[in-house]
Amino acid sequence: MSIMLRRGFTLSGEFGSNVLYSIQKQNHMKHVARVALLETRTVAQFGDSRINHQLKERQRTINSFFNHTSIDKVAAQPSVRLDPATILYSGKSPDGSHILRSAQFLHKELPVRIANRIACFRTLPFIVVCNPTIMAVHELYIRAFSMLSEFPAITDFKLDKQYSEMLRDLLDDHRDEVTKLASGFQECRKYIKEEKLVQQFLDQTLTSRLGIRMLAEHHLALHQEQPNHVGIINTAMKLKEVVDYWADYSRQIAEHKYGKTPVIKCNGHITASFPYIQIPIDYIIPELLKNAVRATIESHPGTPESSLPPVTVTIANNDVDFILRVSDRGGGIPHHLLNHVTQYHFTTASHSEEEGAGVFSTMISESNHGPSGPMHGFGFGLPTTQAYAEYLGGNLTIETMQGIGTDVYLRLKHIDGKKGSFRI
Ligand SMILES: Nc1ncnc2c1ncn2[C@@H]1O[C@H](COP(=O)(O)OP(=O)(O)O)[C@@H](O)[C@H]1O
Ligand SMILES: [Mg+2]
Repeated sequence: MSIMLRRGFTLSGEFGSNVLYSIQKQNHMKHVARVALLETRTVAQFGDSRINHQLKERQRTINSFFNHTSIDKVAAQPSVRLDPATILYSGKSPDGSHILRSAQFLHKELPVRIANRIACFRTLPFIVVCNPTIMAVHELYIRAFSMLSEFPAITDFKLDKQYSEMLRDLLDDHRDEVTKLASGFQECRKYIKEEKLVQQFLDQTLTSRLGIRMLAEHHLALHQEQPNHVGIINTAMKLKEVVDYWADYSRQIAEHKYGKTPVIKCNGHITASFPYIQIPIDYIIPELLKNAVRATIESHPGTPESSLPPVTVTIANNDVDFILRVSDRGGGIPHHLLNHVTQYHFTTASHSEEEGAGVFSTMISESNHGPSGPMHGFGFGLPTTQAYAEYLGGNLTIETMQGIGTDVYLRLKHIDGKKGSFRI
């Protein structure tokens, strides 16, 4: 038996019950979503009795859905966070049993983490949960929970193969989640009095999502032989090469949109090479570079490319951590904005869109296709980067000289460093 799910997801054979459960959940959520869609016009019309009736119905449906005890039970189980050094040195067994062990670990761990995410959605104000875009993300988590938690115990390589395929599909299905959360919250944050609530929810959701994705990608990567890699860990990551890659990327976007771009120089410990997980820094570095490039170009209107001041990336490496400083001469961040730039949704890019300059709107859609994600213009670059840096046991600090430029310092602990590491 083969059953086709939404987004072309297909499962067959022994997953029948899992799929049916999933379909039931989906239908259930579709119903909730339909009611919610009817209700988007809501707030102004609270007095209308028909709407009130629908609102009650929706509340009932969502409440019943919220009360799923299976999710609560799993959320209460302890989560096991892995030390990357353990992954790095645990070695691989010639018979591939390390892959089975990894699958068995995920089989237990992922439902716990996802149940915790779902629990977190429940802490949001009702008006936010009912936003169709947020609801769609919530639904994706519930679907992932039911698929992962109902998968049979992984006892052989055939099951591991099916499990891995399911993981790959789930990773793909959740790819645009950050954009969805960004746009969903943008739509409804005006109803939220407590700003901190949004910040906490997004910090938690985005970092936990990063952890889940790293675990899943690690398992998938264990199946491949890649030089200098143990799963997702690059055992000899050359930081300068990563910087150069994203420097080219950021310059290409700017060149395409503005017709000019500053040079991006790299200095300091340019030969540094150490084990690290590239996934999070592949998100962080382009965000920082795009900001520096944009500020440089925008603060020098009419300046030809050859006269634009360069963006300089300095690398420092030691046995505890490594530091990356991105320096620009993009005029700095004005005093009155400085406290806001690390808040979700704070951006000065919308002006460019509204003025029809086309520059940022196009940059947004351009970066939508790029591997660094679609965040430009949503005001998610710095807050997400900061949350990731802290999750990775490091920090992000901004030093700005108003009228001159900005230095952003990214400081991350080594995964095999003297002072211990973060946990995934
Ligand atoms: N290097 C920089 N120089 C000047 N302003 C900056 C710099 N980096 C960030 N900013 C300001 O912070 C805001 C938020 O940045 P970010 O979170 O990356 O969101 P976005 O790039 O989508 O606007 C930017 O819109 C910009 O106003
Ligand atoms: Mg940005």
